Amino acid sequence: MHRRKFIKKSCTACFSLTAFSTFMSSCIATKYVTGRLEKDGLTISKDEFKIKQKGGTAYSSFIIVRNDALLFPVCIYRFNNNEYTALWMKCTHQGNELQASGDVLQCSAHGSEFSNKGFVVNGPASSNLRSFPVTVKNNELFIDMRKQS
Ligand code: FES
Repeated sequence: MHRRKFIKKSCTACFSLTAFSTFMSSCIATKYVTGRLEKDGLTISKDEFKIKQKGGTAYSSFIIVRNDALLFPVCIYRFNNNEYTALWMKCTHQGNELQASGDVLQCSAHGSEFSNKGFVVNGPASSNLRSFPVTVKNNELFIDMRKQS
């Protein structure tokens, strides 16, 4: 095989693989949970992140807690078994509810985007998202809604 042909085939295969994995990750449905809301915060099981697959267990990178007692949902990102962030899904620009799209939270009102750590990555919002400390205890996560982290 000639060098040019090899490079062309390799690039095509690489592009196809990237497009396919992007397509597959967007097919995974967002998981919503209600959690257990108490006086000081929310408790959810770490098992909520589990995705049963053939041949093992995988983990969602995020889940969304929706609870009638909350004005906005809370998006919880999982980085590993002991590291999580809990983000208030209210845009810091004009208060629109955010949508989770993979590792980014997007605002449909004017296009602001926030990272999975709550940092502004695209304006017009100029303030980071409100976030809450997450404590891992046994198999549960406690999101302390009295404080901001
Ligand atoms: S309300 Fe979110 S960008 Fe304006």
